[in-house]
Parts: sequence; structure tokens; C-alpha cells
Amino acid sequence: MALYDEIGKSYSEHRRPEPRIAAYVERALGDARIVVNVGAGTGSYEPVSRVVVAVEPSITMIRQRRNGPVVQAGAEALPFADGSFDAATAFITIHHWSNWRAGVAEMRRVARRVLILGVDIEVLQSFWITDYFTLWEREVVRDPEVDDVVDVLGGADVITVPTPHDCIDGFLLAYWRRPEAYLDPSVRACISGFARSSDAELAPGLTRLRADLDSGEWGRKYGHLMELDEYDTGLRLVVSR
Ligand SMILES: C[S@@+](CC[C@H](N)C(=O)[O-])C[C@H]1O[C@@H](n2cnc3c(N)ncnc32)[C@H](O)[C@@H]1O
Repeated sequence: MALYDEIGKSYSEHRRPEPRIAAYVERALGDARIVVNVGAGTGSYEPVSRVVVAVEPSITMIRQRRNGPVVQAGAEALPFADGSFDAATAFITIHHWSNWRAGVAEMRRVARRVLILGVDIEVLQSFWITDYFTLWEREVVRDPEVDDVVDVLGGADVITVPTPHDCIDGFLLAYWRRPEAYLDPSVRACISGFARSSDAELAPGLTRLRADLDSGEWGRKYGHLMELDEYDTGLRLVVSR
């Protein structure tokens, strides 16, 4: 059973494409007309102005899709001939792949241009949430270094994509200025690092975060974030040359 068959049931409740992030994707796609979106999930960031074929292993995610054609498959073996697409995209998915190198090589094989939206783990490791939870380490262990992705692509541009304070795509770092959000079980259910953890594992961190918010301790340490409209949470768009 694919992981997201278990944890993806309410994905679209808090995971919607953020338009200010989508604008970066749109620009980087340039003149690409026919696109394969790998690890497509419910279809976030699929450009409506182009022909898109989605690739997604989880039937639970596929059933939440409203966009066009989808093939149930994994990134590591894409069922397409060489050079079938103008561009291959992968948004916030690569850390889930059993073999990201194989997946990226497959994207290169089937498309002229490759776009990968992922997280720079060094930035992630300094995010305030690590004061409260270590669960994300599971994800981080599997998240490739940006430089390694660039190498596998044979060269790429790395674009920093800031996260708006009111980002509507609720990924792990999206709530950098809304700490209370992490106390909401429905928000956590849409973030794989939380969704894969038991209540017992999460309880100490949740209790401490609640207490720090109530006592003003969080505000004393991180209140400066409240002045910012957007923040570099480590989101990077890697675009092959
Ligand atoms: C966090 S979701 C991101 C979905 C979508 N790209 C988005 O931006 O909302 C991660 C997705 O990766 C998919 N996935 C997991 N393992 C995969 C693999 N080996 N190949 C392709 N996709 C995979 C999951 O099923 C899930 O839909």
C-alpha cells in the first residue's frame, strides 16, 4: 500500500496550490507545452495553460484529483518513451521516493526540461519547529541535498521561493508565522512528518508549544517573524539547464 493511501485521505483540506509559489513554476516552465507531473498528488501546481499528464502511485490521492489524465506509477520507472514531454515537474514529493536519483534520471529521460520543487534541508534544520519536534528528521534523512539534485541533473538553476505568511499550501514549514496552526490535528494530518507519528510521540512537543504560546515564550524568541510578510523556509525550485 502506498504511504499516501493511509495518510492522504484529507490532503486537499489544507494542501492547495499557493498562487505566489505557482507563479515561480509558471515562469520556469517557459514555453513547455506538454508536461508530466510526477508525484502529482491531488494536482497542486499543475499549470492549467498546458497539457499535463500526472503520475501518482497512491489511489487515495488520485481519487481527490480534479485535473486531467493520470497514470498510477512511481517516479523510479516512468512508463513513457524517451523525450515524450517538454518538461517534467515534481512538487514537494522527491523526499518520499524510494530512490530519488532513479526518479530524477527518469524525469531527465522523458523530458527536455526538469523542474523540482523541494526543501533545502540546511534551512529546514534551523526552523523553529525543530525546538518542539524531531519527527521531521525522518523526512530530512530522505531529503536529498540541493547540490546533489543539481549534479544528477547535470547542472541546474536553483531559485529561492519564499513562503508567504498566509500560504494556503499547508506543507511542514508553511505555518512559520502561524505557530498555533500546528496544534490543529487537521493541519497536522496533511503534513506527512506529523501524520506518520503517533499521538504519544507528538504529545510532549505539542504540550510545550501550547505552553510557550500561552506564556509568551514563543513570542519572545520568534516574535520578530511576525514583522515579515514572507520568509525563506528553504523552498527551492531546481530547474535543469
Ligand atoms: C506531499 S505530496 C505532494 C503532492 C503534490 N505534488 C503537491 O504538491 O501537493 C507527496 C506525493 O508524492 C507521492 N509519492 C510517494 N512516493 C512516490 C514515488 N516513489 N514516486 C512518485 N510519487 C510518489 C505521494 O503519493 C504523494 O502524492
